[in-house]
This record gives sequence, structure tokens and C-alpha cells, in this order.
Amino acid sequence: MFFFKEIIKKNFFLYDFFTKLNLIIFHKNNIRILFYNTRKDLLYNFNILSNIADSKFSYNQISSLFNYKFKEIIFKEIKKKIKKKKIKILEIGTFDAHFTNWLSKLFPEGQIFTIDIDHKSKEFVKLEKKSVSSINTLLKIREKNLKRENIKFIKMNSLDLMKKFKKETFDLIFVDGFHKDPIVSQDIKNSLKLTKLGGFVVIDDLSYSKSNNSSLDGMKALNRLKKIQPKLLLKHVRPQNYNFKSFIGFFEKKN
Ligand SMILES: C[S@@+](CC[C@H](N)C(=O)[O-])C[C@H]1O[C@@H](n2cnc3c(N)ncnc32)[C@H](O)[C@@H]1O
Repeated sequence: MFFFKEIIKKNFFLYDFFTKLNLIIFHKNNIRILFYNTRKDLLYNFNILSNIADSKFSYNQISSLFNYKFKEIIFKEIKKKIKKKKIKILEIGTFDAHFTNWLSKLFPEGQIFTIDIDHKSKEFVKLEKKSVSSINTLLKIREKNLKRENIKFIKMNSLDLMKKFKKETFDLIFVDGFHKDPIVSQDIKNSLKLTKLGGFVVIDDLSYSKSNNSSLDGMKALNRLKKIQPKLLLKHVRPQNYNFKSFIGFFEKKN
């Protein structure tokens, strides 16, 4: 049985087929999922990624099927493209700082600024729908993750970004704060202003329809930006995309 599972895991087509069967039988997915071309999504993402820094992607390069970490891969590609090592990065939305910590290791010579609203504010509890005890646990995890020399955490509302960073610009901005308007639109507009020429803006969790975890408002705001040609990377490659897709948007700031 174990041997059989291992073979399936290594073969995209078999893995795709059995995942779809499992989703239909045990998770009540529509039979339409069987006809969804998951491979097309994978090739779409490989194409988007290979255009950033001329990297080559292939099936066997990333081993874990349907568990590709595209959020990490995109930052690795941007790192190759930017080349400079001492870069300045801004993350809007720290949460537990797990990703901030990962970024600080990917860019050990970079300086990472990460912002999040005051955890005592009503909005923080409301936004994260968390109890006080789980907020305390989250804050402990955050504190541990932020303990690196190249990370600077700032407790602030992203709506005050332009006041806070009057003279600073960044090589890379990761927009991952509140996903609804007016905040997300403002975050995207401000990020464009605060990015250096040749720098990148990456926006997490965009979608073409309303959903709790993805941002239709963010997608619209990104498309409203003038003189920008944003690209969209699928956040996940998996059969469930037949029903709903979320994207990571990004663009390079040019003249
Ligand atoms: C999706 S989480 C961030 C996840 C994190 N970047 C990661 O990759 O794991 C969104 C965070 O944005 C914060 N946030 C929401 N509204 C904000 C605002 N107006 N200004 C700053 N941070 C905000 C929330 O408190 C939450 O911690």
C-alpha cells in the first residue's frame, strides 16, 4: 500500500486523478472537477515564474505535488532578479511573523520593516476573530519570530504609511494586510509610491470573486493602477481551482 502511494505521489497525472476522486467521493465536490486541467495551471505558473529571472521550471524540480509553495518561490525569483543584497523590504501585515522570519533568512543582508495594527485595538480582535488567549499565544509566537537583527517591527495602521515613511523607499513591498477596501486599495497605491524604480510589489490573496480570505477589492485596485502591467501567479495548483482561484499579484516598478 505504502509503495503504491509513493508511486502515485511521484506521478502528476495519477496524483491528480486520485485527488479528484477523493474530492468527489469524500468531500462532495462536483463531478466537473474530473475534467479540470490541473496541469495547465501548473504550466501557467511555471511560465509566469520563468519570466521573472529567466529560471527554468519543470515537473520534477519541485517534488511535493499540489503543495508547491508559490508564495516562497516568487520571492526567491525576485531575489535573483533584484541581485542587490542590501535591500529594503516592507511587509504590510505581520500576523505571527512566520513569513517575516522566513524573508529575513532569504535576505540576510536586507533590512525588513514589518507593520501591523496595535493588537489592543478593537479592530485587531475583530479582524482576526480571535479570543484574548489565542491573541496572547499569537503574540508570543510573533515575538520569537521577530527576534532577528534585520527585522524591524512597527505597530501602526497601514493607512498612515505615507506619513511614517516620508523619505524612505523600498526595493520590495509585500502587501498582505486587510483585504477589503478602502484599506487594500490604499495599501496598493501607497506601495507603488514607496517602491524604488526596478523594485517589486507583491500582493497576496487576490481573487476575481468575493471570498473571506481573498481580495476582490485588491484585484480591482491592482488593475486600476496606471502604467503598470501586473502579473498574476496562482497561489495554489490543485484540482480545487476548478471552483475558486486565488492569486498572488506582482509588478516591477518601471519608468
Ligand atoms: C493575512 S495576515 C498577514 C500574514 C503574513 N503577512 C504572512 O504572510 O503570514 C494580515 C495581517 O494584517 C493586519 N492588518 C489588518 N489591517 C491592517 C492595517 N490597516 N494596517 C496594518 N496591518 C493590518 C492584521 O492584523 C493581520 O495580522
